[in-house]
Amino acid sequence: MLKKIEIPSSVDRRPIPDKIKQRIDSALARIERFQDRWDRPQIEQFVAADYAHVYQSLDWTLQTQMTIGQRFVEWGCGFAIVSAAAATLGLDVIGIEAEDVLLTQGRETIADWDVELELFHGNFLPPGAQRLADDPMLPSLGHPVPDAYAKIGLDLDDFAIVYSYPWPGEDDFHEVVFERYAARGALLLMFCGPNDIRLYRKT
Ligand SMILES: C[S@@+](CC[C@H](N)C(=O)[O-])C[C@H]1O[C@@H](n2cnc3c(N)ncnc32)[C@H](O)[C@@H]1O
Repeated sequence: MLKKIEIPSSVDRRPIPDKIKQRIDSALARIERFQDRWDRPQIEQFVAADYAHVYQSLDWTLQTQMTIGQRFVEWGCGFAIVSAAAATLGLDVIGIEAEDVLLTQGRETIADWDVELELFHGNFLPPGAQRLADDPMLPSLGHPVPDAYAKIGLDLDDFAIVYSYPWPGEDDFHEVVFERYAARGALLLMFCGPNDIRLYRKT
């Protein structure tokens, strides 16, 4: 079962260190330049989140909630900005991404932020998880890339915190996959749109 944990609306008033703010701003500028490029196909599934709000929510979570460990995984890390932010908060971070071109951008973020974390190319859905989808057209299903967990050498239930930014309409699917495969006590933090960040614990 998933138990919802209410993140207070005041979380957006939590201070963000100036250095983190600057890094987020420069990453956002890089995303804009990337998306403005006309000479390569658009990566339709990459959309920037509100990284300041995600940072504040993750910081609040770490300050107020019990965690079962320090391992953090970002499902579909894109530019790996949340992964980099999580590393600055002291977590052991892994980012998984299906698109090579985004992994290259994610590696640039890691270099810019000067943080320690690992990014893996592959599918963040554990083997068999696709069967839990009630719609075969969900964007998370359309990636013919191998399972990332085999490469990482860990299973989803080895992680204490999962972060995801589901495409509209697939938040339920991400929840169902987390509920089925995550460890008891693990947390799922989801960015579901502006002012819609959700936190769940598997009980
Ligand atoms: C909406 S973007 C969010 C990116 C990033 N998490 C963030 O918050 O900035 C979703 C990302 O998930 C990736 N993705 C979608 N399904 C995936 C899958 N099954 N395995 C790995 N990556 C996936 C997409 O390529 C895209 O980069």
